[in-house]
Amino acid sequence: MIRPSLVAGLLGLCSLPLWAAPPCSVDLEASDRIAYDRELIEVSRSCREFTVNLRHSGTQEKTRMGHNWVLVRDADLPAVHDSGLLGGFANGFVQPGDARVIAASRLLGGGESQAVTFTVSRLQPGEQYRFFCSFPGHGGLMQGRLRLVD
Ligand code: CO
Repeated sequence: MIRPSLVAGLLGLCSLPLWAAPPCSVDLEASDRIAYDRELIEVSRSCREFTVNLRHSGTQEKTRMGHNWVLVRDADLPAVHDSGLLGGFANGFVQPGDARVIAASRLLGGGESQAVTFTVSRLQPGEQYRFFCSFPGHGGLMQGRLRLVD
């Protein structure tokens, strides 16, 4: 007689990969509060590309509670933030052609989502990176660290 718990256990074992490949994507969510649901994103250097699945799970319009995801070097954040504001709503508060922006999503309103993919070779070992929301007034609270890891 085969016990259900044994079957479940075997199925669980079979679904394990032989080696644990690191995930090359992460889910990141923000709602009608000025916050992301995580403050750290770790990117394995074994990934060629990395994808951030950004979701605005709130209901507010992007003109009132817009969220985006902008990736920069730590040192570039203040300047990218300020020039993004000058870029204005029409540009999703990211200055077009700003070479300091490593990756950026559109500005999302409630219910919207976007996957942003960037090439991992753009990240340098030992460098500090930060992601933030460039919507006016959000950058101070909506930000986190992104690290390159083995
Ligand atoms: Co925001």
